[in-house]
Amino acid sequence: MASAQNISVRVGVVLDMDEYGEMTLNCLSMALSDFYATHNHYTTRLVLISRDSKGDIIGAAAAALDLVKNVQVQAIIGPTFSVQANFLISLGHKAQVPIITFSATSPSLTSIRSPYFIRTTLNDSSQVNAIGAIVHAYGWREVVLIYEDNEFGEAVIPFFTDALEQVNARVPYRSIISPLATDDQIVVELYKLMTMQTRVFIVHMLNPLASRLFTKAKEVGLMSEEYVWIVTDAITNELNSMNRSVIESMLGVIGVKPYVPRTKEVNTFEMRYKRRFQTTLDLDIFGLWAYDSAVALAMAAEEARLTNPKYWEANISRNSIDLEAFGVSDSGEKLIQALSRITFKGLAGNFKLVDGQLQAPPYQIINMVGPGARNIGYWTQDNGIARGLNFTNGNKKTYTTSKSNLGSTIWPGDTSTSPKGWVIPTNGNKLRVGVPIKAGFTEFVHVTWNSDNSTKVEGYCIDVFDAVMAALPYGVPYEYIPFATSDDKMAGSYNDLVYQVYLENYDAVAGDVTIVANRSQYIDFTLPYTESGVSMVVPIQDDKNRNAWVFLKPLTWELWLTSFCSFVFIGFLIWILEHRINEDFRGPFWYQVGMIFWFAFSTMVFAHKEKVVSNLARFVLIIWFLVVLILTQSYTASLASMLTVQKLQPTVTDVNVLIRNKAYVGSMEGSFVYELLIKMKFDESQILVYNSPEQMDELLSKGSGNGGIAAAFHETPYIKLFLAKYCSKYMMVGPTNKANGFGFVFPVGSPLVTDVSRAILNVTEGPKMLEIERKWLGDKTECPDSSNLLSPKNLGLASFWGLFLIVGIAGIAAFIIDLIRFLRENWSVIERSDPEFTIWNKTLELLQRFNNKDLKSPTFKNIHNLLR
Ligand SMILES: *[C@@H]1O[C@H](CO)[C@@H](O)[C@H](O)[C@H]1NC(C)=O
Ligand SMILES: *[C@@H]1O[C@H](CO)[C@@H](O)[C@H](O)[C@H]1NC(C)=O
Ligand SMILES: *[C@@H]1O[C@H](CO)[C@@H](O)[C@H](O)[C@H]1NC(C)=O
Ligand SMILES: *[C@@H]1O[C@H](CO)[C@@H](O)[C@H](O)[C@H]1NC(C)=O
Ligand SMILES: *[C@@H]1O[C@H](CO)[C@@H](O)[C@H](O)[C@H]1NC(C)=O
Ligand SMILES: *[C@@H]1O[C@H](CO)[C@@H](O)[C@H](O)[C@H]1NC(C)=O
Repeated sequence: MASAQNISVRVGVVLDMDEYGEMTLNCLSMALSDFYATHNHYTTRLVLISRDSKGDIIGAAAAALDLVKNVQVQAIIGPTFSVQANFLISLGHKAQVPIITFSATSPSLTSIRSPYFIRTTLNDSSQVNAIGAIVHAYGWREVVLIYEDNEFGEAVIPFFTDALEQVNARVPYRSIISPLATDDQIVVELYKLMTMQTRVFIVHMLNPLASRLFTKAKEVGLMSEEYVWIVTDAITNELNSMNRSVIESMLGVIGVKPYVPRTKEVNTFEMRYKRRFQTTLDLDIFGLWAYDSAVALAMAAEEARLTNPKYWEANISRNSIDLEAFGVSDSGEKLIQALSRITFKGLAGNFKLVDGQLQAPPYQIINMVGPGARNIGYWTQDNGIARGLNFTNGNKKTYTTSKSNLGSTIWPGDTSTSPKGWVIPTNGNKLRVGVPIKAGFTEFVHVTWNSDNSTKVEGYCIDVFDAVMAALPYGVPYEYIPFATSDDKMAGSYNDLVYQVYLENYDAVAGDVTIVANRSQYIDFTLPYTESGVSMVVPIQDDKNRNAWVFLKPLTWELWLTSFCSFVFIGFLIWILEHRINEDFRGPFWYQVGMIFWFAFSTMVFAHKEKVVSNLARFVLIIWFLVVLILTQSYTASLASMLTVQKLQPTVTDVNVLIRNKAYVGSMEGSFVYELLIKMKFDESQILVYNSPEQMDELLSKGSGNGGIAAAFHETPYIKLFLAKYCSKYMMVGPTNKANGFGFVFPVGSPLVTDVSRAILNVTEGPKMLEIERKWLGDKTECPDSSNLLSPKNLGLASFWGLFLIVGIAGIAAFIIDLIRFLRENWSVIERSDPEFTIWNKTLELLQRFNNKDLKSPTFKNIHNLLR
């Protein structure tokens, strides 16, 4: 195998040859010597030819051009920075020379889409989801991005905004800092950040600028409580080379960092490296990636079986300039193909290229504590945030971003309570809460001025606001500021008051502000804290004039008629069944008719004295008594309820009646109910306004047509309050319309809205709310509710026809049995075949017998015996 000569493959290296560049170059050369020491049989040998890119774009371009044109290298490793990479990638593409970078991380480089560009490092966009997961875990909703004003800083921003969008976080501001900015410019920008309400900053910049930023931030006071700083791997990868003082100023910062397990190989490599180059400079992850890149390229060169790598001469036209005069490498394509197949376990983890890029390992989440960084958790693409990387039950892949999976964290200001991510942007420190000044219904909000110019604000809405703010998970200091003119009157309408929040004169409004669409265009409402709805108040009247005939009311006329007919039917039936055998049912014609009716109706109160002797009649009567009992009991119950309840009746129950009758109605001054009434087709002239409960009472007592109103419309909470005072005179009808209740007002997009809304739910569901309601709005239980005042329904035939059917069937059956018995007894009459004796005569004879006493009946036996 020891062939005649080694094939040398020339590899250019374009790096900024500062201390750091030297370090990576050393890693490259150590990688090759390590590699060929163990792979001595390889026929190819990489030869590194390095050029200094002198820290700028031109330097890198010139170095690369020189390598391609004059040295005719087969591959180029470098450049150091993303900004230098664009020209190199294009050059590599044209000359078909692979460009392998282990440190240019900008995701925008991918967009050049050159097959000859290989990235053996991670692009910056692979970490954005890890940072998004952290933002989500702590529930921060607004994030300010701070980044370097160049290709490296900008390229990752679209990926950041996408990732933050996914976790419902907004980017209200992006702070762009030039790498050439003076310290003063940085301080000005930091003061600007200080005035904003967002307190979560994501920093994406390279070491020199980042060091200055954090030093200044510490000086200005942005590294204190309530601030959150998240840094990308551009900073976390460089922590080793940062100044100790910078590291100290970064206390409480959290960041993400690609996770490279500290294996035995890494440790021994670092030891050998330090011994060989007599340095104390720590290796960073780029050194490991450089090492792996060189190994991968060496393996690829062997695998590509390069025999005599050379350049084809360029077709130089006569008037082309020197810059274009380079050839095309014949081995570039083979090298690229070989590289894409290479996989091995390198120092920085598994080396495997997909689409020319290294695959992202898990990210480590670190927290800067004191002099160093501490690991507080991990993030992986599949599992999200986890405390460790021990996923034994591998098929259970659930993406979670739970704060509890992170270890304890120190935040800026050396505190361990996690910041809420925003503060109220106030000039003073307190939230300025505007309150209305009310003429009527002061139970909701009441402002009184003390002699020393201070104000006292109290009321239902104020108590609720206090309770809600106390229920927030964090403390918010606030003060009430009345919306008043100099003479202590309300300085405008409710709409004006709400608009003050939009104008930033107030930070919030607490008061009886109804949630309506119009207002929500300027501000954000919290969830409502009162019940909602617009109802109508009407006077109640005593229902006297109907009382004389109220006894007829319980039954419908059909039922009355049916009952009457049934009585007559029963009376007649009993007479049929009884009159032949019972002395009580005998006598002159009119006596018998009287008996029929008397007997029937006296059963109604079970007052009949006549004895019934036939079994059939007894059977019918028993059933009938049952029916009568049910009927009278139902009647009594219904009448009783009518007499007791029906006394108080609302004068009006239907809004449409008011509209049709053109009655006057009332609405509170300045309330949205006015517009609602107009929408309901009330005429403007029909609506009178009032501004206090007293005036409302006055108008209502006058009545429509006498300068007053027939009904007053208002929101349910006000009406309940009104009725607590005037319970005996008025009644609430409705709600007639939907409304959304009262809410607190905050500026659009204020982070307080969701938290306060949550707190409102907490408070309104708890016992505290009842207490506040009882204190201010009184006990509403004494007042009758209009809903159970609806007149009781009278009883109809529908509920009773079954009873009548049973009685009817029993009665008719009894009649038929009686008839058959009668005919059988008198069969001789029907059978008589006397031609004189016509059917007519037969009928007369039967009727005659029917009218007579049945002397065989046991009831007459004794009498006859006596007579005999
Ligand atoms: C190839 O190069 C290696 C080291 O550079 C050397 O040890 C080896 O002898 C060379 N082989 C030949 C055949 O020159
Ligand atoms: C040079 O030109 C010839 C003919 O025009 C073409 O076949 C060849 O591929 C060209 N070489 C390069 C390197 O462009
Ligand atoms: C960045 O890298 C990740 C994987 O490491 C990859 O999925 C993604 O497409 C890359 N993005 C760009 C713009 O190159
Ligand atoms: C990983 O999980 C297995 C099984 O649950 C356990 O035995 C092992 O100790 C864990 N390893 C670490 C480092 O937590
Ligand atoms: C009360 O406030 C008014 C206006 O804010 C001011 O003009 C007045 O001097 C104050 N009076 C006292 C006693 O502070
Ligand atoms: C909102 O209400 C105000 C005052 O009533 C009015 O001037 C404005 O036109 C309304 N806006 C809309 C969009 O209805």
